[in-house]
Amino acid sequence: LEASLQPKLLLGKRVLITAGPTFERIDAVRGITNTSSGKMGYAIAKAAYEAGADVVLVSGETALPTPIGSRRINVQSAQQMQQAVNAEVDQADIFIGVAAVADYYVLNPSEQKIKKDAHILTLELAPNPDILAGITARPNAPFCVGFAAESENLLEYAEAKRLRKKLPLLVANLVQTAMGADHNEVILLDDHGETRLHSAPKIDIARKLMAHIARLYPSIQQ
Ligand code: CTP
Ligand code: CA
Repeated sequence: LEASLQPKLLLGKRVLITAGPTFERIDAVRGITNTSSGKMGYAIAKAAYEAGADVVLVSGETALPTPIGSRRINVQSAQQMQQAVNAEVDQADIFIGVAAVADYYVLNPSEQKIKKDAHILTLELAPNPDILAGITARPNAPFCVGFAAESENLLEYAEAKRLRKKLPLLVANLVQTAMGADHNEVILLDDHGETRLHSAPKIDIARKLMAHIARLYPSIQQ
């Protein structure tokens, strides 16, 4: 009931969301990933749909059911996530990058399972593309929202990230609070300053984020 009573602040808007972790293959049975349950991104997808948006959810591997109202595209690696996002982004009014994208991938993944021996194993890692930065750099970029998961110096690191990625809005959260939990506590950073969203269920945080986006969006897109 509460879901259907949400104000339709984003009616008809097309929202593209990334969520969950990426997984970078090492060999046939192993990989490198980031800690992410996907819960925050999926809550945002649900809240965007409640607000009247058309929602596309590009998701790394999670244990979560598809949120009601989302068209979900499953991916594994950061490069697959970028391809899926690039294929959808021209149709988006708003892009929200919630995914915990691995910053590196394994240069020469092995087709076969690597057998153990007594020696040190060295993996060569190469940097992944920055999906969000690639979108903000586009000429007709949608309204872009980033997340910054930090373990220390939250405000300082997050505001620097917002400016570096040229984002009108960035959601800062402490990893210690957010990870795997059903509650979250975040700070929204935009050109007007900070807005603190105190500890609440992730769906409540997501609904407040939609309201905040709806306030900023029209003044920036024109
Ligand atoms: N992001 C992305 N593609 C990447 C890395 C990050 O799209 N390859 C997005 C995330 O989804 C998030 C934002 O960029 O919205 C910030 O991610 P974060 O990991 O906090 O920042 P980084 O720029 O990767 O910097 P660092 O990990 O060094 O703090
Ligand atoms: Ca990163």
